[in-house]
Amino acid sequence: MKHWTLDDIQWAQFDPSLVDPELLQIVKAASLVEFNGGDYATYLCNVFGDDPSFQGAARRWAGEEVQHGAALARWAAMADPDFDFEDSFARFKDGFRISTDEARSIRGSRTGELVARCIVETGTSSYYTALMEAAKEPVLREICRNIAADELRHYKLFYGHLRRYVESEKVGRLRRVLVALSRITESEDDELAYAYYSANGDTGIAYDRRHWANHYARRAYGLYRRHHIERAIAMVLKAAGLSPQGWLNRRLTGAVAWFMGWRVQRLVRAGF
Ligand SMILES: [Fe+2]
Ligand SMILES: [Fe+2]
Repeated sequence: MKHWTLDDIQWAQFDPSLVDPELLQIVKAASLVEFNGGDYATYLCNVFGDDPSFQGAARRWAGEEVQHGAALARWAAMADPDFDFEDSFARFKDGFRISTDEARSIRGSRTGELVARCIVETGTSSYYTALMEAAKEPVLREICRNIAADELRHYKLFYGHLRRYVESEKVGRLRRVLVALSRITESEDDELAYAYYSANGDTGIAYDRRHWANHYARRAYGLYRRHHIERAIAMVLKAAGLSPQGWLNRRLTGAVAWFMGWRVQRLVRAGF
């Protein structure tokens, strides 16, 4: 069941004077990544080939991700009438492809796949919460509030299936921690950097991953406050089979908050 549709958004409340051009750039990038959700459903349906209940859930999930992309794209086009979503999305699809013909999870097991999905939903739910709190434009705030609620529900969906597979596949905690860590480090891989480039870059210039990942990270990391990080760490720990609260969460929250602040400062100094 969809909790909202594009028609529920109060588009008439849009106030162009409250659009932050920096946030607009990352919204454009996010619209491309979200709109690409259908390919992930294809991949997940292959990996969970004999699990029709999960396949049905994955297809509904992907429909919601695509709707996130459509809502963000519509907002971005209101904020910048020159933004050509179709053109940007075509460019993104051209340069970034998800392998949809794998029969087994690239994470080594279905449990690993579900841990990775939980990490992604942790990232998106904290990201849209942080974006909503940073935004002043009321329509963007409404969209981000809706999306953040969906992303938290997605986390719970994948976590529910994860618990089922942890029982049947008996994948150990260390393995789950390693999958979580590898998925977190992948957030600096091509997907977000290429989406940012496809939506904002001068396409006359060749794509350079590090360069565009820096552009993206400067704007995205700058949104995070300590409470977003603490909550995200709790969700990651839970997905990895560890205690969500307590000393480990405090240590990690401190370390991640320091790292993000340091990274943003360095990128600002470097002119990103
Ligand atoms: Fe999403
Ligand atoms: Fe999601």
